Amino acid sequence: MKLFLDTAIVSDIEERVSTGLIDGITTNPTLIRKSGRDPWKVYTDIIELGVEDLSIEVNGESSKELIENAVCVNKNYGNVATIKLPCTIEGLKACKYLSNIGLRVNMTLVFTVSQSILCSLAGATYVSPFIGRMDDNSLDGIKLINDISNIYASNGVKTKVLAASVRDVQSVGVAFGVGADICTIPPKVFDDMASHVLTDKGLEQFNRDFLA
Ligand code: G3P
Repeated sequence: MKLFLDTAIVSDIEERVSTGLIDGITTNPTLIRKSGRDPWKVYTDIIELGVEDLSIEVNGESSKELIENAVCVNKNYGNVATIKLPCTIEGLKACKYLSNIGLRVNMTLVFTVSQSILCSLAGATYVSPFIGRMDDNSLDGIKLINDISNIYASNGVKTKVLAASVRDVQSVGVAFGVGADICTIPPKVFDDMASHVLTDKGLEQFNRDFLA
């Protein structure tokens, strides 16, 4: 059971990574755009925080282009970089090649069990089902996590299930409960996981009683 942070805001990462509870960072082109910064500088800053697993999405029409861009990312960031690829035929071909040469690959934009099967056959390190976006479209994101986890477990698949597009605290517990290996979550969800109104209320009372 591991938590990754899903953001490209370096200050947000720094604050949460300092807890020692975060095992990796995932980014995507939208998160990078929202940071308003040069992607390469963002990745460098994240790695300088001591992050050991950073998902970096690469772009390309063909598997050849995806592979070239992935190799370039790997040259710059070495083993810290996990190459994030879209779950398309070209992405799967690139995944197979990159996994064979020893790179970690995170297959993203996964919405079906069938896609997850292909990702595992392509040697992906992580498969990222987007549970929030499924729920947005009246599909059952948690059921997908459950189905993929069961199929992977019963077939001895090594690919880890990385629940992505997680938008609330409750989904984290439920996703782990049905077999997710990792949840990648926005900083606010991480903060919300630690807090409860009854913890605050109880602590107020205990602090008063300490002083009494
Ligand atoms: O890791 C993928 C995730 O960032 C997508 O989240 O909220 O844009 O669906 P969301």
